Amino acid sequence: MERLDKIIASQGQHSRSDVKKLIKQGRVTLDGTAVKNGDIKADPQKAVIAIDGRVLGYKKHIYIMLNKPKGVISATQDPTQPTVIDLVPGELRREGLFPAGRLDGDTTGFVLITDDGDFAHRILSPKNHIMKTYIATLQRELTPEDIDRFKKGIELKDGTLCLEAEVTPVSGTVPMAQVKICEGKYHLVKRMFAALGNKVLELRRTKMGELCLDETLGEGQCRELSAQELILIEKK
Ligand code: URA
Repeated sequence: MERLDKIIASQGQHSRSDVKKLIKQGRVTLDGTAVKNGDIKADPQKAVIAIDGRVLGYKKHIYIMLNKPKGVISATQDPTQPTVIDLVPGELRREGLFPAGRLDGDTTGFVLITDDGDFAHRILSPKNHIMKTYIATLQRELTPEDIDRFKKGIELKDGTLCLEAEVTPVSGTVPMAQVKICEGKYHLVKRMFAALGNKVLELRRTKMGELCLDETLGEGQCRELSAQELILIEKK
């Protein structure tokens, strides 16, 4: 059971002080009855809470897919640069949103934004082997030896040993590869290719687990994920 005013404010559309005013004005109902006091307790999963007759569709957590453009940083706030959180539209905003895994400023593609710390931990922990898929544009083509080294686990220039990863060539007019990794180390894909004497020129994340980036999302656009899509992220 939680305080009614807290339940309403947790959904992101109204501040705690707005909720207080709405209640005072008699615009909030709990299970069909107007409430006078925000400190009344309710079960957020079961209670039917309405504001001006519109039922609040309570969600404990929210999961958002962003197609990140270049020049936006994977942080919650920054004094000088736009962040991925700045791109979340008002109707999806709530307190506690953060990117579950970071992309570099110049990397584009799939960023998952949520307020669910347990989910983020599960999908990011290398122990759970949830693969993140990237398309890298490279300075030179992959060799069979490169593919083998990815499979065995690359040793980075600073001696760090990487877990096994997968790389496959992608045909095109420029050298490209698809890379699948389950770790989230800083600049990892760029450092893996650097260890092979290659260079990543462009990097895009296209998939998390089995969920592909929705390519109908324009650069900088977000949308909420469905329950089925969340299952795909955790599916191996
Ligand atoms: N690896 C990188 O080098 N950069 C990213 O943004 C993600 C993975």
